[in-house]
Amino acid sequence: MSVLERRTWAKIDLDVLKDNLKRIKRFTNAELLIPIKADAYGHGSCEVARVAEEIGVEYLGVAGIEEAIELREYGIKMPIVVLSPVFDFDTEDIVRYEIIPTVSDLLFAESLNKYLESISKDIDIFVEIDTGMGRTGFLHENAFDEISELSERYKHLRIKSIFSHFSTAEDEADNFADEQMSIFKGLRNKFIAAGFDNVKYHIANSAGMVRFKESNMDIVRPGLLIYGLYTSKSMMKYIKVNPVMSVYSRISRIVDLKKGDSVSYGRKILDRSVKVATINIGYGDGFPRCMSDRGYVGVNGEKCKIIGNVCMDLTMIDVSGVDNIKTGDTVTIFNHEISADEVAEVCHTINYEIVTRIGERVSRIYYEDGKPIKLRTIASRKIHNKL
Ligand SMILES: Cc1ncc(COP(=O)(O)O)c(C=O)c1O
Repeated sequence: MSVLERRTWAKIDLDVLKDNLKRIKRFTNAELLIPIKADAYGHGSCEVARVAEEIGVEYLGVAGIEEAIELREYGIKMPIVVLSPVFDFDTEDIVRYEIIPTVSDLLFAESLNKYLESISKDIDIFVEIDTGMGRTGFLHENAFDEISELSERYKHLRIKSIFSHFSTAEDEADNFADEQMSIFKGLRNKFIAAGFDNVKYHIANSAGMVRFKESNMDIVRPGLLIYGLYTSKSMMKYIKVNPVMSVYSRISRIVDLKKGDSVSYGRKILDRSVKVATINIGYGDGFPRCMSDRGYVGVNGEKCKIIGNVCMDLTMIDVSGVDNIKTGDTVTIFNHEISADEVAEVCHTINYEIVTRIGERVSRIYYEDGKPIKLRTIASRKIHNKL
């Protein structure tokens, strides 16, 4: 068996990723912090980080300390920021792996500073302000006073950056992003006037970056866009990017079933004769169960409807109209023809979730310079026998 012969796999096109990154770099004058949390939205954070380092991206963003450690252990040297709040139990690793934490409240600042005092060390931190996301950060009403206090009292923390996050930037019918930006700009001016002028300010995610030129401050943080996806269709007019991930599976059985026969768990009863193919992907691979009896996949350029319930490992499809197929043939789950957006639409969710949930069991095959160069499989999953 060739290493590239897989039951189900995701092709991750690093040439497209590089191209998207270059387009984004041309679009903005700001530094780039690219979120590669959640395994780089399912694309595989180590390889995405390697490319980012090569292209000269300034920062990587993750959501938790384990994600940052994985990157350091892979040999990634560039600055890594944990964008979500961290915990007291993360502090030793923050120092050991040279990771930049986001500080969102004074209590954590105090305990982090205390730990640093005990080892006589200073570290860089990012500080978040909540301008309306209602999720993390210093509430904007108190942010100036509290962050000034942080800077005054906790001398082992070097504030490198102050940021906020949009909640509706992709929604052109909504002007809440303007409100958030105006609050953030007001605070930024106040901080700069108070001497925080060596600090980098930022608020833009993908949609914010393309929609509001003025949100391109010192840094921008486009996530979805680097993977070639758009937060909403209306964002497409601002910049052209292409999908980095495509997912494929294989046909493992083809049978003719008759009217009245049944398919899958729960017994979908056929109301006519159907040529049914079984494909080796299921919700255990992150193929959404909400595709059951509604979604479709691509076979030989034809869209084939899913019949009955998606199982954990297998899914049945109607291939009645498709000629010249045999077991082993490739099936398109999504790529440039059937998009992750279409899958998301069937499932009443967002494209973020579709790519991010493509499971670990799905091998990632990385393409660079037009050819497959690396493979990631679950075979390399690590168990720590000693805790
Ligand atoms: C703090 C922060 N910045 C930036 C992003 C990137 O957002 P997007 O993928 O919409 O560009 C995220 C992702 O949710 C985030 O949490």
